[in-house]
Amino acid sequence: MKDEPVSMSRNDRDMPVPRGVGLTRREELGVSSWDLAVLAATVVIAVAVPLEVVRGPLEERWLQIVSLVASLLFAADILNRFSRPVVVGGRPVTERAVVQRRYLRRWFVIDLLAAIPFDLIATVPGIAGTGAASVLRVFALLRVLRVARMLVLQREWRVRTSFNPAVLRLAFFAFWISMVAHWIACGWIALDGPASGHPELSPYQQSLYWAITTLTTVGYGDITPFGRSQVAYAMTVMALGAAMYGYIIGNVASLIANLDVMRSRHLGRMETMNHFMRDRRVPRELQARVRDYFNYAWESRMGQQSEILADLPESLHIEIALHLNRNILRKVPLFERASETFLRELVLYLEPRVAMPGETIVRRGEMGRRIFFINRGRVEVLSPDESVTVATLSEGSFFGEMALLSSEPRSNTVRALDYCDLYVLGREEFDKVLEAFPEFAAEVRRVADRRRSESEPRS
Ligand code: CMP
Repeated sequence: MKDEPVSMSRNDRDMPVPRGVGLTRREELGVSSWDLAVLAATVVIAVAVPLEVVRGPLEERWLQIVSLVASLLFAADILNRFSRPVVVGGRPVTERAVVQRRYLRRWFVIDLLAAIPFDLIATVPGIAGTGAASVLRVFALLRVLRVARMLVLQREWRVRTSFNPAVLRLAFFAFWISMVAHWIACGWIALDGPASGHPELSPYQQSLYWAITTLTTVGYGDITPFGRSQVAYAMTVMALGAAMYGYIIGNVASLIANLDVMRSRHLGRMETMNHFMRDRRVPRELQARVRDYFNYAWESRMGQQSEILADLPESLHIEIALHLNRNILRKVPLFERASETFLRELVLYLEPRVAMPGETIVRRGEMGRRIFFINRGRVEVLSPDESVTVATLSEGSFFGEMALLSSEPRSNTVRALDYCDLYVLGREEFDKVLEAFPEFAAEVRRVADRRRSESEPRS
């Protein structure tokens, strides 16, 4: 078999191949427990190593253990990565040669550097205290690079998981800001920055405080830079802070506005509609009804389905529609004994629609173009002179079938008694369904005949 091209496209992933059916949250994230452990070690190293580099050799025993365990995990992860399947261009690739070549070209060097415990080696008797130990400690900073894997995860999770993308972005945003503040604080310690400032705080606390006040462009000035290197460092952090501030202002506002995308869409539509109605001097009472309609459609989650699902291929569209319309499929006795094939055909055509109390849904004498199924609420069928209620129909019933079957005008006016959630089937789709499923057609005809005889004036 021909080798897969080793592409570097943005869609390439280093993730386990997804299992597809019955995804748990973890599978959806594409990370195993092993990955999570390695990831945690990566973050710990990214925090601990810069700190120990600026504070001097590793003295605390537990830090040495953490560093060693992380190294072992990273080493085992390298071996693991040489054999585990990856996703390239959306397709899983299991061929070892491809997987290995791809890994060697991309992450191997960074992973290897992270796996070498430079900081620990610097504490080995014979090396500790020599110039080599200082060099090794600086090399240990290379271990931090592995945290760049978080960037890949961030990109992946945004498109592959059901987490709210805005929440995810905010969470990663907070993570990176904390990381950067920590690294900047470490740099400040290295430059002896904490010498001026608050003696009651530990050097790290002072540095972190300085890093955050400078990054956020607050800069109280209670800790000030002395000497060339500190001033240069402070200027760089200020510039970085200004850039970050701009980024935050630019992004966080839109992120927060988009926390609930559907809601902001709804509000946007309401605003446009309100503006339009005011502009065209629509009577206030009618305006209020329009707003009621929009609000109810939003709250009952009955709107916007078709426009969102339009981009999906038919098979997925059917799956989602089956899920969304399961209520109505369960409620309408007509569908109870229907076959899976019938339901799959039907859900594609059903369109949700809401009706407000008192709204005339079907008017006597009009040409019929739709049949309605009631998911929630009640409607009344009025007598020809609209003075008497002939019948009240509720959840699970349908109406509007007579005009479609006989091609005659609507026999009666039908009016909503409550807020109604309806599903509508257009004439063409109704005819298609009747043709394909004679049992359904017979049942609808039977109901229509019964209703006609009930409505006919008795002599
Ligand atoms: P259609 O004639 O298309 O429009 C009015 C609808 O009211 C009609 O189809 C039936 O679905 C419904 N309808 C008419 N008479 C009755 C009745 N007696 N009981 C229940 N529903 C009816």
